[in-house]
Amino acid sequence: MTSTPPHAPGGIASSPKIELEGVCQTFLINGKPLPVLQGIDLRVYRGEFVSLIGPSGCGKSTLLNIIAGLEEPTQGLIRTDGRQAHGRLGAIGYMHQKDLLLPWRTVLDNAVLGLELRGMSRSQARRQALGLMEQFGLKGFEGSYPSLLSGGMRQRAAFLRTVLADQEVILLDEPFGALDALTRANMQEWLLGLWESWGKAVLMVTHDVEEALLLSDRLYVLTARPGRVKMVLSVELKRPRRYEMVTSEAFVRMKAQVIATLREEGSRPTQSEGQA
Ligand SMILES: Nc1ncnc2c1ncn2[C@@H]1O[C@H](COP(=O)(O)OP(=O)(O)O)[C@@H](O)[C@H]1O
Ligand SMILES: [Mg+2]
Repeated sequence: MTSTPPHAPGGIASSPKIELEGVCQTFLINGKPLPVLQGIDLRVYRGEFVSLIGPSGCGKSTLLNIIAGLEEPTQGLIRTDGRQAHGRLGAIGYMHQKDLLLPWRTVLDNAVLGLELRGMSRSQARRQALGLMEQFGLKGFEGSYPSLLSGGMRQRAAFLRTVLADQEVILLDEPFGALDALTRANMQEWLLGLWESWGKAVLMVTHDVEEALLLSDRLYVLTARPGRVKMVLSVELKRPRRYEMVTSEAFVRMKAQVIATLREEGSRPTQSEGQA
């Protein structure tokens, strides 16, 4: 494994916001065990942007489900802020692979869902959300239903809902997966700007190497299923990041390294059970 040890950015000696130690997950498919994750060690520090990349079906979404508290691992420890994390469900912001907007709610009422679930009145939640519509490129569409929005707008509405919940850690599962290349590049820049003003910890799953390098402080590359950590790469590019950096020598070198690692995985047969 080519590995740079995880670090606290800026040398801050604080506990990681998220820490996984030896996390394993095995599902039973028709009574047969399907190992999906094996011995995952992973850390995300305060204010850090970390990406997770790996072949389809290697357990990336499963890992986010575990961190969010939607699933319990078969083995391993999960700590948040240095403490063993029980009952973390709802304490971590989570944007799923699908945007999961409710079709019968307007953009505004979708955005406030998390706040309402936490007991805030709808009118107070709406006031809070309205103040952010412009920043999220949704001004003028507050009363629109999701079916009338473009892919990029739906994605931003889902982002807004995740951000409004105001958790210190945000998990993003392929947030730009369904977007065309141009919208995707715009959304990446927009997210970078937003993240730089947040100071939140982000863990993002992506299958796009360029996107992972451009956005992240560190990058975890997973093996094919069962997913193990194959490489941890520190992305030593200065911030603020600019799209033009993708042509720099350092960027091209890192990209080649990650792609080579992923291709090794792509050529390795995976176990036949289960679907990606
Ligand atoms: N709840 C579940 N029960 C059984 N198998 C599952 C479950 N969730 C995921 N899987 C299987 O685990 C593997 C990894 O899935 P997933 O985490 O979605 O992969 P990725 O997000 O990396 O593409 C797949 O083979 C999938 O079919
Ligand atoms: Mg997935």
